[in-house]
Order: sequence, then C-alpha cells, then structure tokens
Amino acid sequence: MIIEDFMPQVGESSIREQLVTCLRSNPKTLPSMFFYDHNGSELFEQITQLEEYYPPKIEIPLLRSTARKLNHELKDCDLVELGSGDCSKISVFLDEVPRDIRQTMVYYPVDVCKNAIEKSACNLQDKYPEMGIHGITADFLEHIEKIPGNRKRFFCFFGSTIGNLTVVKAMEFMKNLGDIMNDDDRLILGMDMVKDVSVIEKAYNDCQGVTAEFNKNILKVTNNHLGTDFDPEEFDHVAFFNEEYSRIEMHLKAKRDMEVIIPALNERIMFKKDETIHTENSHKYTVEGIKEMAKAGELSVENIFSDDKKWFSLVEMVKR
Ligand code: AVJ
Repeated sequence: MIIEDFMPQVGESSIREQLVTCLRSNPKTLPSMFFYDHNGSELFEQITQLEEYYPPKIEIPLLRSTARKLNHELKDCDLVELGSGDCSKISVFLDEVPRDIRQTMVYYPVDVCKNAIEKSACNLQDKYPEMGIHGITADFLEHIEKIPGNRKRFFCFFGSTIGNLTVVKAMEFMKNLGDIMNDDDRLILGMDMVKDVSVIEKAYNDCQGVTAEFNKNILKVTNNHLGTDFDPEEFDHVAFFNEEYSRIEMHLKAKRDMEVIIPALNERIMFKKDETIHTENSHKYTVEGIKEMAKAGELSVENIFSDDKKWFSLVEMVKR
C-alpha cells in the first residue's frame, strides 16, 4: 500500500481570506466545502440515512448492478476514484468484482482529506488484501495531472458531487479530465437527474431538520475560522429548486437585521432582515445535460445506467 501527498498546505490565513471575500460579496456566499468539518460530516452521514434523501438509496444498488455489468472491463485496470471519502461506495462496487479480477487491479483513492485517505486505504486493504492500493491526497479540481496510472484507467466520480460545481466549473473539470484520459480509459460519473420538483425539494427540506442543521453548521465552521459570532439560530434554512439553472440552492436567511463582527479585521458584516447567504448548489441533470458535460470533455456517452424511475444515473463515458 502506498500513500502519496500532493496537497499544498493551505494556510489558515488563506482560508480566512476566502471566507471574508465570500461574506463581503453581494449576494453573500459561503463555499460548500466548508460544510464538512467533523460535525458537518456526521450530519451529512445522517442525511444519507433520511427517508427523503433519495440519491444514495438509488446510487448504491446501481453501483452493484453496474459493477456486475462492467466486471470484465476491469481486468488489469487502475481504478481511480475522485473524492473517495470513506471509500464506502467503492466497497459496494468492488464486492461485485470477482477476486481474481481484483487481484489484477490497483485502486487509487483521491481525496483532499489526508485522514480519510489513510484510514480508508487501510480498511480497504484489510478487506481486499489481493488488490493494490495507492492513495493520493490531492485536490483533483486543481491538480488532475497529479493522478498517475500507466495502465488502462477507470475513473469514478460518484455521489453527484459534480453537481456542486457551477456549470462553468463542471465543464472545466470535464475538459481537464478529458485531456488526461487515454483512448482505453473510461469514466463513471454519478449524476442526479431532474425529476418532480416536490421530490427534489423534500430531499433538501427533511422533516427532522437534519439538512437545516447541516446548512447552519457552516456558520459554526466560519466562527471557528474567523472568530465571528454568527448565531445559527438567527438564520432560517432555505432550499428550493431553481428551474432556470436546474439546481437546488441552499441559503441561510437572516431572521432580522444584524451585524456580525470580524474581530481580527475590525470589520462589520451587515445583514438586512431576509438577506441570504448562498451556501450550496446541487445541479440536477437531463440526458441533454449529461451529453453537454461529456462534450465539454470531448468524451462520448457510452451508457447511462439508471433506476426504473430515472432518478439517478451512473454515466459511462469514453474518449471518442
Ligand atoms: C454530497 C454534494 C452530493 O448535493 O445532494 C445533501 C450535499 N447538501 N444535502 C448534495 C447535500 C444537502 C450533497 N452532495
């Protein structure tokens, strides 16, 4: 087992700068990557268990059936997973791959979180001792060229995480990925599909309020970095489907006029009642949208594996 670290040490000062810039902008924003501190990751884990939050409920069985269909393609492959997290999804996938094929494979989990890579690579090696594992800590949005692999590669990007990027950023990501892909390589992309708006909106407005808590947690994370005194209870969780952009937007809406002080800068951030902080986008795709993404990477759509209701897709793309 090998673990390589390509993450530049992001200093606390650049994190602060990023947060301040977002809070000064009009409309105010906070980057969704800041949801995931320890508490936020736990809340997201709870979200995945919610009745209303359909994506993992569809994606996980799809991972099983798709792995069975693509089995024979995996021999002598480098399996590269972007945003591997705790590696729970790839486990579902690998469980459907026969051991004698796993034996010929090397798995490359890629994630920004060094902790997650180290822990999950060890767990996975215990589970699949016959398979090679080469963990990489890198921000693949910035440094896709850091991903090694001299054999046939199978790229995976599950969880509809691509949906968090703006369309421009997602296309840029596809372009960079398409550029490094070779003729034999494939990409499997998890994409959440456009469906009845009420279904989508319920998934982000669960009745237990877990998603609301997850959204508000970003203010606690901000307080920890900036020393601000955001009171999460002074904000309402708002999540709605924006038809024009085909995406769920999450916002935090100020319950009243307020000012939040950034002590280190002696600066005040002013909020009007009902003013919002835009915290997340989660794009939902049509078959057309999928094709546009493929085109941005000069890739072609080989297969779209979906559930019966076509709520979620694992899209297989190849270099054309
Ligand atoms: C982990 C980015 C796929 O967009 O559905 C869940 C995050 N936000 N509920 C998504 C999320 C609110 C999730 N992704």
